[in-house]
Amino acid sequence: MKNIIMLGPPGAGKGTQAKFISKEFSIPHISTGDMLRDEMERKSELGRKVEEIVNSGKLVDDDLMVAIIKKRLTQPDVANGFILDGFPRTISQARALDKLLENIKKRVEFVLYVEVPEDILVQRLSARRVCPKCGRAYNVISNPPRDDNLCDVCHVPLVVRKDDKPETVRNRYRVYLDLTLPVIEYYRNRNVLFTIDGTLPVEKVKDMVLNILGGAE
Ligand code: AP5
Repeated sequence: MKNIIMLGPPGAGKGTQAKFISKEFSIPHISTGDMLRDEMERKSELGRKVEEIVNSGKLVDDDLMVAIIKKRLTQPDVANGFILDGFPRTISQARALDKLLENIKKRVEFVLYVEVPEDILVQRLSARRVCPKCGRAYNVISNPPRDDNLCDVCHVPLVVRKDDKPETVRNRYRVYLDLTLPVIEYYRNRNVLFTIDGTLPVEKVKDMVLNILGGAE
């Protein structure tokens, strides 16, 4: 069983690594950011409610996020494990997750904390491009698509996320320091936290992550 949480500042590479892990261990990648952006794209009631908050880099209300995760964790594909990417982001969410997992007789086994300093994050996120269809993240400097601005897989034009403007990234980083850093300490005290140097190239980070997680069961 691999019940994994990815933690780290905005742009640390959580989503990039979560996709590798998901493929390697055949477990679902549960990205709360992707779920919210999907709702925004579909202009659902939830999407309209959260759009301004997400685009400004603030956090969506804890109760709402817990309700979203509660529903997601009842789906059958989490039976052999999951990777949570973007949740929990506050101590209140971490405590709620503990209760949810207890109810379904699971527990957090690995918390991968990807560490990257602020100046690198701002540079990375200014260069990030994402596929609006499959969500794959590229970087025009470190990881460009094969064809000019087209997703390698879906062949549709890549887009810039609205919350990747430098001033919004700095806001997101401040929110991270205030509300999410305490979550790292929460898991450090449980001895499930593994710190990874996210400034290394993607493939090196991937090797470290797979080394920590060990083989597929
Ligand atoms: P979310 O989508 O979770 O954003 P985030 O945590 O800020 O993380 P990012 O997706 O920006 O970065 P990442 O670490 O996944 O990096 P990536 O792999 O893409 O959340 C967005 C918003 O939704 C929040 O601000 C909030 O409003 C709301 N929200 C979501 N969850 C919530 C919750 N639980 N509670 C309340 N609100 C919530 O990589 C970034 C770039 O770097 C890419 O270009 C990539 O190619 C490149 N890259 C990756 N790794 C490397 C490397 N090793 N070297 C060089 N470049 C790299």
